[in-house]
Amino acid sequence: MVILGIETSCDETGIAVYDGERGLCGHALYSQVELHARYGGVVPELASRDHVRKLLPLIKQVFDSSNIKSSDIDGVAYTAGPGLVGALLVGAAAGRSLAWAWGVPAVGVHHMEGHLLAPMLEQDPPTFPFLALLVSGGHTLLVEVGGIGRYRVLGDSIDDAVGEAFDKTASLLGLPYPGGPALAKLALDGNPDRFRFPRPMTDRPGLDFSFSGLKTFALNTWRNSEQSGQDRADIARAFEDAVIDTMVIKCRRALQETGLATLVIAGGVGANIRLRERLSELLRSQGGRACFPRPEFCTDNGAMIAYAGWCRLAAGESEGLGIRATPRWSLEDLPAV
Ligand code: KG4
Ligand code: ZN
Repeated sequence: MVILGIETSCDETGIAVYDGERGLCGHALYSQVELHARYGGVVPELASRDHVRKLLPLIKQVFDSSNIKSSDIDGVAYTAGPGLVGALLVGAAAGRSLAWAWGVPAVGVHHMEGHLLAPMLEQDPPTFPFLALLVSGGHTLLVEVGGIGRYRVLGDSIDDAVGEAFDKTASLLGLPYPGGPALAKLALDGNPDRFRFPRPMTDRPGLDFSFSGLKTFALNTWRNSEQSGQDRADIARAFEDAVIDTMVIKCRRALQETGLATLVIAGGVGANIRLRERLSELLRSQGGRACFPRPEFCTDNGAMIAYAGWCRLAAGESEGLGIRATPRWSLEDLPAV
């Protein structure tokens, strides 16, 4: 089965074609980062309008570059949520309509299920069951994964998502949007012994996270410093260390509680090199295995949506002609395959 995948939940237009037999046939991404940079964050209306402009040309580009015709497509998968409703509606309307025109089934994919299954596109993919740490701009989730659609959320953030905390802290340090990668780069020059930030919610039982306090801690540390370039790098380093330590502690705890030996790390923050190193080390020390998507499939992309859609369409799932966009949607509400 050959599936067209469409991702438009936020500020990235992602297109891919996945074939159950040959694997990933082609993919392309158009990032709106430049469009939103001057506003310091994503402007939802501008995001929707840009998806409208870029979506069909990007589908044509992927078809042309991978020698695929519309008649090769056996199904369409689009991101149905969670995300910005206007942006979701663009991909959903285009995806559902193309499926109707081509006479093939369509399915609305959960964006976080896409992230969670992204490591399946790599060599030597993880096998079920596993623990997943999903860390993006909108989510911080620890999930026990029994199979496709069999998700139990063990931990969540009670305030800012981890990517959001990276972005907000970067912004108060005067770094350009999107802040996560910029802050991570700056932290490489920081002195790890200069400041020590708290490791929130690690001194009590449970698997939930809280990151908004770290941002305030960073702001106060910045205000009390001379605000030099070195101060900025040292604060970035202290912030990143605190976030990574916190995630390592919670992952260790979740692995212990579930008895699982495989950890999947996915979502935009999963591209963070030091987080990848620390979690790989943790799993190695326990005789287990950490699995990541390649960095470009950690952040939003069409390939993960094409793959997740293929899992569901190949199992016979499909939807009616209604166009569905669900801005708020729990992973636990998904049907098992
Ligand atoms: O998954 P994603 O592309 O979009 C959402 O679904 O939210 O994640 C984007 C988030 C942003 O907050 C971005 O700053 C963060 O992932 N991010 C990083 C890194 N690369 C992206 N955070 C820390 N270090 C990175 N290298
Ligand atoms: Zn995402």
